Amino acid sequence: MRRQVPLFILLLSLGSVFGQVSYSIPEEMAKGSLVCNVAQDLGLDLKRLNSGRARLHSGGSSEYVELNKERGVLLIKERIDRETLCGETTPCALHLQMILENPMELFRVTIEITDINDNAPSFVSSEKRFDISESAVVGSKFVLEKAVDADIGSNDLQSYSLNPTDNFILKLENQADGSKKVQMVLQKPLDREHQERISLLLTAVDGGQPPMTGTMQIIVNVLDANDNAPVFTKSVYKAAITENSPKGTRIMTVSASDKDKGSYGEISYVISNSKHRYSDLYQIDRSSGEVILIGEIDYEKSKLYQIDIEAIDNGGLSDSSKIVIDVVDVNDNSPQVKILSKSDAILEDSPENTVIAMLSASDPDSDVNGEVKCRINVNVPFKMQTSMNGFYSLVTDSDLDREVASQYNITVTCSDEGVPSLSSSVTLTLQISDVNDNAPVFERSSYEAYIVENNTPGLSIFTVKARDADWNQNARVSYILEDSSVNGVPVSSYVSVSADSGVIHAVRSLDYEQIKDFKFCIKAQDGGSPPLSSNVSVTVKIQDQNDNPPQVLYPVQTGGSLVAEIVPRSADVSYLVTKVVAVDVDSGQNAWLSYKLQKATDRALFEVGLQNGEIRTIRQVTDKDAVKQRLTVIVEDNGQPSRSATVIVNVAVADSFPEVLSEFTDFTHDKEYNDNMTFYLVLALAVVSFLFITCLVVIISVKIYRWRQARFYHSNLPVIPYYPPRYSDTLGTGTLQHVYNYDTCRTTDSRKSDLKFGGPGTQNILIMDPSSGTMQRIQSEKSILDEPDSPLEI
Ligand SMILES: *[C@@H]1O[C@H](CO)[C@@H](O)[C@H](O)[C@H]1NC(C)=O
Ligand SMILES: *[C@@H]1O[C@H](CO)[C@@H](O)[C@H](O)[C@H]1NC(C)=O
Repeated sequence: MRRQVPLFILLLSLGSVFGQVSYSIPEEMAKGSLVCNVAQDLGLDLKRLNSGRARLHSGGSSEYVELNKERGVLLIKERIDRETLCGETTPCALHLQMILENPMELFRVTIEITDINDNAPSFVSSEKRFDISESAVVGSKFVLEKAVDADIGSNDLQSYSLNPTDNFILKLENQADGSKKVQMVLQKPLDREHQERISLLLTAVDGGQPPMTGTMQIIVNVLDANDNAPVFTKSVYKAAITENSPKGTRIMTVSASDKDKGSYGEISYVISNSKHRYSDLYQIDRSSGEVILIGEIDYEKSKLYQIDIEAIDNGGLSDSSKIVIDVVDVNDNSPQVKILSKSDAILEDSPENTVIAMLSASDPDSDVNGEVKCRINVNVPFKMQTSMNGFYSLVTDSDLDREVASQYNITVTCSDEGVPSLSSSVTLTLQISDVNDNAPVFERSSYEAYIVENNTPGLSIFTVKARDADWNQNARVSYILEDSSVNGVPVSSYVSVSADSGVIHAVRSLDYEQIKDFKFCIKAQDGGSPPLSSNVSVTVKIQDQNDNPPQVLYPVQTGGSLVAEIVPRSADVSYLVTKVVAVDVDSGQNAWLSYKLQKATDRALFEVGLQNGEIRTIRQVTDKDAVKQRLTVIVEDNGQPSRSATVIVNVAVADSFPEVLSEFTDFTHDKEYNDNMTFYLVLALAVVSFLFITCLVVIISVKIYRWRQARFYHSNLPVIPYYPPRYSDTLGTGTLQHVYNYDTCRTTDSRKSDLKFGGPGTQNILIMDPSSGTMQRIQSEKSILDEPDSPLEI
């Protein structure tokens, strides 16, 4: 804006030659604007100006002002800028000379140029950028550019302002040269995360009316500082994993956030260094935060894992959290069965509930996977008892019997309750030891044995057998003959029993005619302690042998006398002459006698009843028949072979007794023959006696010799060795077999022993009575000593 400044007329002080005027005009007047009426002020008329050819001289500077001679005024020729013309210099004036000729006159014209507020404060650059870390401390100063105002004085720069003032305030500081230092001071910390870019406006204001302003944009880039730590999304992360999960299983992902930017916001996840790092089991992905299983998880080793983790940004700030991993049990363990103690064998009479083994069963799995139940195989007389949790005892459930089962295999199977269930088992072998609980049992309830009479002593009759269900010693059966008596004689003199074999031997030769049967008891006793025994009765029946010839009772065969039956001549046919009466001590067939006529003086006269022995006439007796009739009747039994006896029956056929006597005087007509016979018999007897005495002497000599040596080749046992009642040696191995030993004993004992030891049998000797001429049967005992050729061994 241009303003007309009031004209100033300076009084001429320069004498007569020169006039001088001063004016003051504002700068920036428009071209052609009137500065002053210089002619008037100098007192010059317009004609003089023209005649004097007035002109302006500016001293070399550009022509800002021109003279208008017609009007006598000074006009603005060129726009005047005070700031260009004078800069800071004050006052600022144009010094002009107006020169007139004819006459020469010089006038000084001074035009002072006054300042107008035509310049706004200005900054060199319109924008200024600052990069300030958000970590900059409060009070930090940042120097700003000063603004410049070309105007002077009150139009010059007066003040600054900065907006907004949230973080920064403006601070002006006076400097020695009077200028001001413009600074902005951080008064509130920056936060990139809140505001990354701050735009400020710095305004400079001058003092003009109206004031003018200049502005500068200040842009603050808030640089990131690592002022934010990472933050985990959770303070505890929970996860569950089943045991035995494969390696590489992803368990979970943890995450943390960091408000910082760039590397300060980049987070690394790590497992913290702590007591339990489990670095062999778990791995965390540094960048993604994924937790991965790298080892083997066993619920039985650890049920829970607590892992400390950290999230770290690149500036080193960190946060920590915790991972809690629950291990879920899987039924991966079979129960373990352990035998704590066991018996290898128990007695069969052990009572019920006898403990035979203690077991423990355990399963490291949890809950139902670890709940164990044990059972045993069926069909064994045992049961399981639970005493304590996990402990079992195996006890007998019923009575045992070794004779039924001597060994048991007991399989204990323990299984858990998991699905599928796992199980394991152990097998115990239990032996049942024998107890003597079974008595020997004879094969039969009673025995009947048969023996033919006249047996050899020592002959084995029969064998009894008893079995014992027990084992070993408890089953070793001994046979013992129970004491009893047969006909007043101890049974042991009849039979003996072999203790081991149960063979019954006859001790003596038995005679059916003396004893037909006898009964005794044999006890079978086992070797247990105490022993058990049982009885059996044995009946020995003696079987008859045809060892006895018939014996004729009538007619009596007397030595010297003659007996004759008298048949009257008048006897009819079938007249009963006599009856031969004979008996046989044998029995049965052996005693069934038959009678036959063997020899007769006249066979046609008599017959003998086959069955009854009756001698009858078979025809009428005639006178021609001799008085003396001699019949030889043979009596035979029915044995095999049969035995017989003969009897001579003298029959006199006569009517009167004297007739008979006269006839029978020469009845012994063969007396001479009998004498010869007697002689031979006496001779034989003498020889036998001699031999006997000789033998006796020899035996006694030998005996004495041995006696002196005080040594016996063989003990002088009695005929029947004595055995303790409970023990009896077998006759088969004893001495009884040897007939000769008996005989030796008998020589030392007495011939009067009531024991009879026959040889093969008795011997019948028919001897003709020398006086009577009748035959007599002599039954003599035959003994070895009676036999001349008997060996006399001792
Ligand atoms: C018990 O087991 C053994 C060996 O396996 C076998 O020899 C025996 O016969 C079994 N006993 C029973 C009574 O099964
Ligand atoms: C065996 O028999 C005897 C006598 O006859 C008797 O005393 C005993 O009790 C019997 N013993 C047995 C086991 O039967």
